[in-house]
Amino acid sequence: MVRRRCTSIVILPVIVLLTVLSVTISESMAADDGCNRFEGSWVSDPSYPLYDSSVCPFLRKQFDCQKNGRPDKSYLGYRWQPTGCNLTRYDVNDFFTKFSGKKILFVGDSLSLNQWQSLTCMLHAGNPNATYNLTQQQPMYSFQFPEYNLTINMQWHQFLVDVDVEPTGRILKLESIKGGDAWTDFDLLIFDSWHWWFYIPPQQPWDFIQLGNETKKDMNRIEAFKIGLGTWAKWVDSALDHSRTKVFYQGISASHYHGIDFGKPTAQGCYKETQPILGSKSPAPPSPGIGIVKNILGQMNNPPFFLDVSLLTQLRPDAHPQKYGASKTGGDCTHWCLAGVPDTWNLLLYASL
Ligand SMILES: *[C@@H]1O[C@H](CO)[C@@H](O)[C@H](O)[C@H]1NC(C)=O
Ligand SMILES: *[C@@H]1O[C@H](CO)[C@@H](O)[C@H](O)[C@H]1NC(C)=O
Ligand SMILES: *[C@@H]1O[C@H](CO)[C@@H](O)[C@H](O)[C@H]1NC(C)=O
Ligand SMILES: *[C@@H]1O[C@H](CO)[C@@H](O)[C@H](O)[C@H]1NC(C)=O
Ligand SMILES: *[C@@H]1O[C@H](CO)[C@@H](O)[C@H](O)[C@H]1NC(C)=O
Repeated sequence: MVRRRCTSIVILPVIVLLTVLSVTISESMAADDGCNRFEGSWVSDPSYPLYDSSVCPFLRKQFDCQKNGRPDKSYLGYRWQPTGCNLTRYDVNDFFTKFSGKKILFVGDSLSLNQWQSLTCMLHAGNPNATYNLTQQQPMYSFQFPEYNLTINMQWHQFLVDVDVEPTGRILKLESIKGGDAWTDFDLLIFDSWHWWFYIPPQQPWDFIQLGNETKKDMNRIEAFKIGLGTWAKWVDSALDHSRTKVFYQGISASHYHGIDFGKPTAQGCYKETQPILGSKSPAPPSPGIGIVKNILGQMNNPPFFLDVSLLTQLRPDAHPQKYGASKTGGDCTHWCLAGVPDTWNLLLYASL
């Protein structure tokens, strides 16, 4: 994939530095019970998947692998098993009880959309008689269960900071986050941002970057990401009512365009994978973005809960849409089939409420 190749070129020189950095940042991922639920492995479980994707009528084509003709099913039958404890068993009624009366908003890119879609399918499939109301008004997708007074929205805002259209062009403003005004009235906020920072034209959705009083044509993208995420971090600390709003950061979901990342150096992407990597170690180091994110989160006064999906996604080269996503011509080793891996992100979110 062209996109991924661009990403690699930018990232490779900093991998070594950041890998060292991320090891030195001591950050406790442990919940109250001392268990880090992000360390673990995928185990076969006949009770999975958690729902049948065919009973989720609003599932977007890009995630609906079975309907798009994916021939194998074994990728659906795995449960995340933390090393030090058990995840609470999935019980949809309990989900509704916990989320009832809440306003939830996912903000970010298509991996945010993937998680939002997973949550809406999990809830609808588990309680198909509950009426729902789905409206899509770009950039906001809104899903409501009126009987439960539950709103689950997703807002497309892939840099978290603003991109303003001005007479000179589209300006990515690293220190401006006016978009945040639309996020304050929620009980749960789940953010993500990473992949879009590395796109070059024609996918790059901005023409200039603004930093301080300077407007530049381009700059080091890792630096830009750090500054942008720093602006977001200050916003989270200052703009939210932390007695009401609980904040999550989705972390960085692994892509599998390079066989070397999943221990098969000759594989051309994820297209033929049908099995997860067993065990609790990935053959490749995590994304260099993880160290940056942990570092910024670690400096916040009100640090969000870090949904560290890094390892659990690195271990799943088999669970992407492959050629059974939005388009049959390309191939998708970035997003996740639903049912699938993002269901586990939502179980982990739920486990930390
Ligand atoms: C997890 O569940 C298994 C099987 O139900 C049980 O044997 C084990 O003791 C549990 N582990 C913990 C840490 O609760
Ligand atoms: C629904 O939830 C909102 C908060 O999200 C609350 O303000 C409102 O009172 C609730 N309505 C009912 C009927 O419970
Ligand atoms: C949904 O409603 C139908 C008809 O009223 C009923 O037979 C079925 O058991 C209900 N399903 C659930 C999951 O409550
Ligand atoms: C569905 O949601 C939209 C947007 O929130 C709202 O305007 C509309 O009244 C809702 N419809 C129903 C049937 O609840
Ligand atoms: C931009 O700001 C810096 C520091 O505030 C200042 O030194 C510099 O003169 C400014 N440049 C312009 C072109 O205004």
